[in-house]
Amino acid sequence: MEIKITKTQNPQQLTEESKLGFGKHFTDHMFLMDYEAGKGWHNARIVPFGYLSIHPASTVLHYGSEIFEGLKAYRTEKGNIQMFRPMENIKRMNNSAERMCLPQIDENDFLQALCEFVKLEERFVPYSFGTSLYLRPFMFGNDESLGVHTVKNATFMIIASPSGSYYAEGINPVKIMIEDEDVRAVKGGTGAVKCGGNYAASNRAGEKASKVGYSQVLWLDGVHRKYIEEVGAMNVMFKINGEIVTPMLTGSILPGITRKSCIEVLKNMGYKVSERLLSVDELIEALENGKLEEAWGTGTAAVVSPIGKLSYAGKEYVVNNGKIGEVTQKLYDTLTGIQWGKVEDTFGWIYKLN
Ligand code: PLP
Ligand code: COI
Repeated sequence: MEIKITKTQNPQQLTEESKLGFGKHFTDHMFLMDYEAGKGWHNARIVPFGYLSIHPASTVLHYGSEIFEGLKAYRTEKGNIQMFRPMENIKRMNNSAERMCLPQIDENDFLQALCEFVKLEERFVPYSFGTSLYLRPFMFGNDESLGVHTVKNATFMIIASPSGSYYAEGINPVKIMIEDEDVRAVKGGTGAVKCGGNYAASNRAGEKASKVGYSQVLWLDGVHRKYIEEVGAMNVMFKINGEIVTPMLTGSILPGITRKSCIEVLKNMGYKVSERLLSVDELIEALENGKLEEAWGTGTAAVVSPIGKLSYAGKEYVVNNGKIGEVTQKLYDTLTGIQWGKVEDTFGWIYKLN
């Protein structure tokens, strides 16, 4: 694939790394390519970062035809740049496209676009441990018509955001509220793919939780409101009476790449990990009996994020005295160690860019 590059005439100054936050600053350029049925993907280009001009009837604005991914470029201590399992994001994006009737992208073209774009934006990959260049590939339907149908025109883009910690708490434990009214997804719906609509529909519960001081909600299954599914922007894991439990992929949960990697790391460390149904009753009983030893979330943006408090039906429960647990800490150290190149990658997950 040929990518036409038009460089900016106004390179920006870098933001101080301690002030980055998450997803607030963007690099100098963006990648785009267009799709038209019968013609396929064309006009791959990197241009100065800026506003888009789209038709007011564009499909995405009315019917939410949008999918996205999230991955990171990390700077190692030696100054090199690497990505973590990018092919997993590429495959998941095509899986999301299939569910949403958006066009597939050739895996090699996708990887090439990521690599060329990150290389061009190299100076934006921050140096401090825990910071990274967050990459956001996304695709939207762009037909200029109000009919509801499979789109014939689409746009694929990649933007990048030099970022620090997703939560203001950093590695300190977050407070999570179990949501028992709204639901996020049902089997057969779109919960297992990364489409924008999933997040739009989750905002009301998130807002309710935020008003009473919680960072995010923990969703229950949409049919019984009984089984634990996942948190707003991360999968979830618990250590209950020595067993590490994470909700099984039932078709309404996002198959997280961090989740999959954590399961492999934990098994490699000798822990027993069960992917199974976990009811909220079992979880609350474990909390009340002191058998819930640790709880944490896993995600690209959130990395491994300890959960210090859980609330359900108006009652607040403290996990592990509100402190990060031993397994959570070990998992965080190993995973971030691999990602930032401090720990040897025995799994073959790192994709080096230089
Ligand atoms: N679940 C949801 C709803 C998410 O938005 C994310 C973030 O991408 C995850 C789980 C974790 O997925 P991953 O580890 O692939 O980033
Ligand atoms: C990620 O972890 O990459 C995500 O996509 C979460 C996002 C919704 C902030």
